[in-house]
Amino acid sequence: MTLDLILIGFGNVGRRFASLLGEQRDRLERQHDLGFRVIGIATRRHGIAYDPKAGLDLERARTIVGEGGTLDALSSRRRAGDGGTRLTSALDLIEQASHRPGARPAVLVETTILDIAHGQPATDHVRKALRSGCHVITANKGPVAFAYRELHDLANAAERSFLFEGAVMDGVPVFNFARETLPGVQVIGFRGVINSTTNHILTTMEHGGEFAEALAEMQAAGIAEADASLDVDGWDAAAKTAALVNVLMNGTITPYDVRRTGIGGMQGGEVRAAVARGERIRLVASARRNGDRIDAEVSPAPLPAGDLLAGLSGAQNAVVLKTDLLGEVAVVQLDSGLTQTAYALVSDLVTLRRRL
Ligand SMILES: NC(=O)c1ccc[n+]([C@@H]2O[C@H](COP(=O)([O-])OP(=O)(O)OC[C@H]3O[C@@H](n4cnc5c(N)ncnc54)[C@H](OP(=O)(O)O)[C@@H]3O)[C@@H](O)[C@H]2O)c1
Repeated sequence: MTLDLILIGFGNVGRRFASLLGEQRDRLERQHDLGFRVIGIATRRHGIAYDPKAGLDLERARTIVGEGGTLDALSSRRRAGDGGTRLTSALDLIEQASHRPGARPAVLVETTILDIAHGQPATDHVRKALRSGCHVITANKGPVAFAYRELHDLANAAERSFLFEGAVMDGVPVFNFARETLPGVQVIGFRGVINSTTNHILTTMEHGGEFAEALAEMQAAGIAEADASLDVDGWDAAAKTAALVNVLMNGTITPYDVRRTGIGGMQGGEVRAAVARGERIRLVASARRNGDRIDAEVSPAPLPAGDLLAGLSGAQNAVVLKTDLLGEVAVVQLDSGLTQTAYALVSDLVTLRRRL
C-alpha cells in the first residue's frame, strides 16, 4: 500500500523524517507493506511545493531548504508553466491534497513549531486535515496539549487516525505503551523528567559547566525548541504534562492549568550543593487525581540520589506511571535526538498502516 504524505513544517524534525523515510524505505516495504510518496511540503519562509502526480524529490527539497532556498519551484504546476492556483498557506495545501478524486486519503505530517499561546497553527492544521478526510501524525505537542478531546472525537467521527507519539519522549513509546499494552489499567498519576534541554543544563551544571554553554549545545543539536525559553521556563514540559494528562488520564487541561516553575533562575552553586547533600535537582513534571480534579505541576525538585529520575543524565528522560493495578511502571529513554523524534513519526506511520 502506498500512502501519500503532506508535510507541514520542514525544519529539523521534518527534514530528518524525510531522510529517515529514505533510509528505511526497503524495510518499511518489506516488513509492513508500506510505501509512501510525499506529494506536498509547506513551510513558513521556504515556500510550498505540491506535486500530486509524480510526488516530490525529497533529497532536492532537503537541499533547497538546507541552503535557505524556496520550495516553490518543485511544484508541478510551476514546472508545467501553467501558473495554476498558487498555494499560499499550509491550509491551502491540505485543501488541495484532500480533494484528489479517487485517491486514498492523504496523511498530514505536522511538525511546525510549538506555539505555547494557543497551540497554533498546528491545531488548525490538524483540525482542517481531519475535517477534510486526511489522517494525521504529528510530533507537535500543541494539538494534544490544547485540543486533544476535540481532535480525538473529530478523528473518530471521520474514521481517521490522529497519532502523536513524538509529542512526549520522541519515539520511545509512552502513548502506544499505555494504549496497546495496558488494557484495563487506569493511570492515576505520573511523575517524570520530560524535557531534555533542561536536564542537560542541570547535569552540565552539576559538573561545573555553564548554563548558557549547555543550552547552546542543545540548540546546536536541534533538540532545544526554536524559542529556547519554552524549555528553560518549563513551558515545553508543561505542554507535555498536559498531553499526558489529556491522553492517559482522560483529562481536559491545557499547559496553562499546569503549575509551572522553570530553571531560569537556577545557579550552578545550588545544583552542586544538592549533589554534595546526596541529591540531584531535576525538573519534575507530575500529575495526580484529586477528587474530580487533576493537579499537574512542573518544577525543579531535589531528589534523593536513589530515585530513578535523579539518575537521568544529559538528555535522558523517563516517565513513571502510577496505575491502579500494576503499581508504578516506568518508561525510560536513554538516548534522544532528532533521529528518535523522526522515528516517532515513522512509528505512527506504521501504526496507521496496520490500522488500514
Ligand atoms: N527538535 C526536537 O528534538 C523535537 C523533539 C520532539 C518534538 N519536537 C517538536 O517538533 C516540532 C518541530 O520541531 P523542529 O525542531 O523541527 O522545529 P524547526 O526546526 O523550527 O522547524 C519548524 C518548521 O515549521 C515551519 N513552520 C512554522 N510555522 C509554519 C506555518 N504557519 N506554516 C507552515 N510551516 C510553518 C517552519 O518553516 P520555516 O523554516 O520556513 O520558518 C519550519 O519548517 C515542534 O513542534 C517541536 O516541539 C521537536
